[in-house]
Amino acid sequence: MRLQYQLHIAFTALLLIVLTVTGFAVHSLLLDGLIQDEKRQLEQKGELLVTLLNNDQYYPRERVDYDTFFKEQNLQVFVYDRHANDILFTTFPPKIATEFLRKNEKESKVKERFDLGGSTFVTSTLYLYSVDSGLELVLLTPLTDLEAVQQALLKRLLFIFVIGAIGAIGLSYLFTRKLVTPLSRLQDQVQKIEKREFDQLERVKATGEIKEVEQSVYDMATELHRYILSQQKFMQNASHELKTPLMTIQGYAEGIRDHVFTAEEEEKGLELMVEEVNRLKKIINEMILLAKLDSEQATYKPEHVDVNDLLERVIEHVFPLAHEKEVTVTTDVDQKYFIWVDKEKLLRALLNITNNGIRHAHSEVTLTSNACEQFVYIQVRDDGEGIDEQLLPHVFHRFMKGQHGETGLGLAIARAIVEQSGGTLEAFSDVGEGATFILKFPQKSH
Ligand SMILES: Nc1ncnc2c1ncn2[C@@H]1O[C@H](COP(=O)(O)OP(=O)(O)OP(=O)(O)O)[C@@H](O)[C@H]1O
Ligand SMILES: [Mg+2]
Repeated sequence: MRLQYQLHIAFTALLLIVLTVTGFAVHSLLLDGLIQDEKRQLEQKGELLVTLLNNDQYYPRERVDYDTFFKEQNLQVFVYDRHANDILFTTFPPKIATEFLRKNEKESKVKERFDLGGSTFVTSTLYLYSVDSGLELVLLTPLTDLEAVQQALLKRLLFIFVIGAIGAIGLSYLFTRKLVTPLSRLQDQVQKIEKREFDQLERVKATGEIKEVEQSVYDMATELHRYILSQQKFMQNASHELKTPLMTIQGYAEGIRDHVFTAEEEEKGLELMVEEVNRLKKIINEMILLAKLDSEQATYKPEHVDVNDLLERVIEHVFPLAHEKEVTVTTDVDQKYFIWVDKEKLLRALLNITNNGIRHAHSEVTLTSNACEQFVYIQVRDDGEGIDEQLLPHVFHRFMKGQHGETGLGLAIARAIVEQSGGTLEAFSDVGEGATFILKFPQKSH
């Protein structure tokens, strides 16, 4: 069943339960309340009548005419003489008066609810003059009158309940629809992601948690799209990079087979073929390494590494290239810092960066280490021409290379290694001022 209907049914059921319970509670309390109220009113009326009858000036006791007095008040009463168990006056017929006397004979007090002539009455009893006189004024109201009021009130209440319930159910329908619609629209968007129709994706308007889910789905789709595009680009670049040396090799190999070259050209061709095969080997090795870094976390073996030792090893490794290019490589370290990384892999990343630096430097490459707020920073700076402005934002992308670049994988590998070590790698450059690469790692105490 659709979520909207489930929510709607749950809400309606809850509403009906609440209304039914309220209805029963009101039904039972209403009659009690009406009876209490009626008794209070009878009492007030009774007190007023007793005060009037006790006023000798208007109603001298020996000459009081109860008949005219009570008929004027439009009341149902008994004036009851308890000592004599007799009725001095009543507005009821004699048969009912007799029944009243019979039932009261053994009672010390008139009952609060009294059954007379087949009907129930609510009573209120007051002493007419004094307790000793034994004369009691009993005022009565038939319970049926109160029940009629109760029924009228209940009908009105039921009407309000029905109108309220219809309104609430309507509102619940609107609310649940408002709540569920974004979900079904989100489902449509997820189906588009499944079919990889990324350019058809639309944002879904929602609130609260659904908005957060929508944002996550959208971020996930953007990332997936970016990943798929980068994979496609990687494949295109890789096949292009592999094709160029292969075509050179093929051209020379066929020429040598068909004896179209002179001995000197053949010699040169073989040299070029060896060079291209080495280039192919390098590209393939770097691609394999990148693929491994992407997928196999297990090949990563972190340990405590002394940053100064690491920089010294970098200098040892780059010495031949630096010597060849007549570039001095120096370190600038103040104290010992430790980081938790795979030593051999990070050495490889630093070598990629430093080799780039040496190839582009005029005369100097500096390796620096320092720490700030629990982070260790390693800087590789050269005094070369700097990174081209247009290349800089993409310098870490695979197969991205500048004018005198080689494969364009070195920095992509370096970044993958640094990020696997929980660090970050960034490049800064001002044209003509050289390039700076900054590696940042969480500091470890040894
Ligand atoms: N220190 C630097 N100064 C100027 N340009 C640089 C520097 N380092 C890198 N670059 C530019 O960035 C490009 C990408 O570098 P990257 O190391 O990824 O590839 P590469 O050096 O061309 O090939 P390889 O895969 O062999 O390292 C280079 O081709 C170069 O143009
Ligand atoms: Mg490089």
